[in-house]
Amino acid sequence: IGGVAALSTLVGAGVWLGGYRPALRAASASTAMEGPFDVDLRVRAHPDKVAILPGAPSDVWRYTAERIVGPEDTLMPVGESYAGPLIRLFRGQRVHVRIDNELPEDTTVHWHGLHVPPEMDGQPRLPIAPATSTTLAFDVVDRAGLYWYHPHPHGPNGGRVGFQSYAGLAGPLIINDDAERALELPDGERELVLILQDRTFSNGNELQYIDDGGMGAMMTRMQGFRGERVLVNGHPDARREVSTQPYRLRLLNGSNSRIYKLAWSDGRAVTVIGTDGGLLAKPERRRSVTLAPAQRIDLWVDFGDTEPGDSVQLVSEEYQLGMMGGGGMMDRGMMDGLMDRGMMGDRMDGMMDRGMMRDMMGSERLSLVTFAVVARANDAETLPERLAQDLPASPVQADTPVRRFELGMRMMQGFTINGRQMEGATVADDEIVRLAQTEIWEFVNNTMMPHPMHVHGLQFLVQERISAGGKTDLHDGIIDAGLHDTVLVFPEERVRIALTFKDFEGFYMYHCHNMEHEDAGMMRYFKVVA
Ligand code: C2O
Ligand code: CU
Ligand code: CU
Repeated sequence: IGGVAALSTLVGAGVWLGGYRPALRAASASTAMEGPFDVDLRVRAHPDKVAILPGAPSDVWRYTAERIVGPEDTLMPVGESYAGPLIRLFRGQRVHVRIDNELPEDTTVHWHGLHVPPEMDGQPRLPIAPATSTTLAFDVVDRAGLYWYHPHPHGPNGGRVGFQSYAGLAGPLIINDDAERALELPDGERELVLILQDRTFSNGNELQYIDDGGMGAMMTRMQGFRGERVLVNGHPDARREVSTQPYRLRLLNGSNSRIYKLAWSDGRAVTVIGTDGGLLAKPERRRSVTLAPAQRIDLWVDFGDTEPGDSVQLVSEEYQLGMMGGGGMMDRGMMDGLMDRGMMGDRMDGMMDRGMMRDMMGSERLSLVTFAVVARANDAETLPERLAQDLPASPVQADTPVRRFELGMRMMQGFTINGRQMEGATVADDEIVRLAQTEIWEFVNNTMMPHPMHVHGLQFLVQERISAGGKTDLHDGIIDAGLHDTVLVFPEERVRIALTFKDFEGFYMYHCHNMEHEDAGMMRYFKVVA
C-alpha cells in the first residue's frame, strides 16, 4: 500500500541529515524536589546514524544517556542500535534527570507506568522546545517491574508520539526491589530485555513512516502503522545463545500498533511470571500470550529439556487480514463474530464471501528471537509456584463508582473516547476524579479494532472482561491477572479496571496506545482533585 515515505523527507531533510547539534539554552523548566539524589542522569534526545540492516546505516532519532551519580549498573546499553539505554532503578531511590532536546522539534520524556507527579510525567502540555533542556526529579515508589520511557509530544496539528518513537526514541526502565530479589529469579546473562518493534525500510535502508497525505496514508493512520519486519532491540533476525537452564525474558512491545501473539516454535507453554506492574502471585501458563503496544510481559523459560545444537524460536502467531494491508488487527474468531452480528458484511464489496476472506487472512508466524542452545549447564533451578506476595487485593467495594468510556469512531477522523478527542489540558465534568478514591473504569469498544487503553501515573487491576461476541482466537492469550497500566479491549468488548488515584493532584492522561490512534486524538486528560 502507499502512504509511506522516508523519515528524512517527513522532517526538514537538512536538519535530519546534517548532524544537527544545537547549543543548548537555559533550562526551560526545573523541579523544586530536593536532593541528595541517589541517581542523577543526563539524557539526550538527538538525531544519529545507526547500522540496523547490512549496508548503509539508517537515520534515527535516539536517546543516549550519561550517569552523573548512581550505581554503576544504572545505565546499560540495549544492543548496539538505536534503543535507549536500560535504566535500572531501585525502589526507594530519589532520581534526578536532565533532558536535552537536540531534535528539530518539541519533545517530552514520559515514564510509562511510573507513579510520578504530573509535572514529571512528560505530558504534552509541558513540551521541551528544541535546543532547550529540562530537569525532572521523582522518587521511585513502584514495584519491581519493567517499565519504559518514550516521547509524548502533541501539538495543535496532532501527536508526534508515533513518529518520534518510530524514529527510535524509546528505552526500557527496570525497577528492582528487595521482595523480588528474594525470589532469586535468573539474572545477569540469564535476564534478557527484549524490545519488539516493527519497521519498514527503503532499499537504501531508510526507515519509512506514514506519508502526510493521500488515501493510503489515511488508511494506515486508521489502522495504525505496521512495519514489514520485526526488530528486537533494534536488530533484525535476533539470535541469542543460551545454555540448558532457565532464563527470564522481559519483553516490551514498543511497536506503534502491532499486537503480538507470543508462542514457542516447539509448542512448549508460554510461562508468564509478570505483567506491566511487576510479578504475578503465581505463574500463568498459556499456549500463547497476547502483547499489545506499550505492554510488558515477564516470561520464564527453561531450556533444560534441550541439547546443545538445538534451537527454539519465540514466534508471533499473527492473523493477517491481507486486504487491509499489514494485517494483525483482526483474527478469524473476531471476524466471524462481527459477521454474525452484521457489523461486517458477509460479502465484502459484493465480491468476497466469508470463506474467501478467511483464506486471505491466513496465518503468519513471525520469528521474533532464535534461542540457539550452545552449552550444557548443570544447575537445575525450578520456578517457585508462589511469586509475589505484595500484590494488592482488589480495592473494589459494593459502592465503588463506575465511570464509563465508550470507544467510538469519527468517520475519516480517527477514534474517540466518549465522543471526544484530544483537546489539550482541559477536562470535561466526567474526567475529574477524587484523590484517594477507588473507581471502576469501564472501556466499551464500539469499533472494529482492538484498542490498548492506557492510564498514566498508576497501575490498575483488571476486574472483568465481558465479550459480546464470545471468545476469539486472540483471547486465549490474554493475561488479566496482576497489575497493568495498559489493557487491550477487543471489538464489542467491555473491560472493567479498578484504579485508585493516590498522592498527586493534577492532570494525567488516558488514551489508546496504538500510537497512530493517540496521535490522531484518541487521548484525553483527566484531573485528580482533593
Ligand atoms: Cu506510553 Cu501516554 O503513554
Ligand atoms: Cu504512560
Ligand atoms: Cu486505538
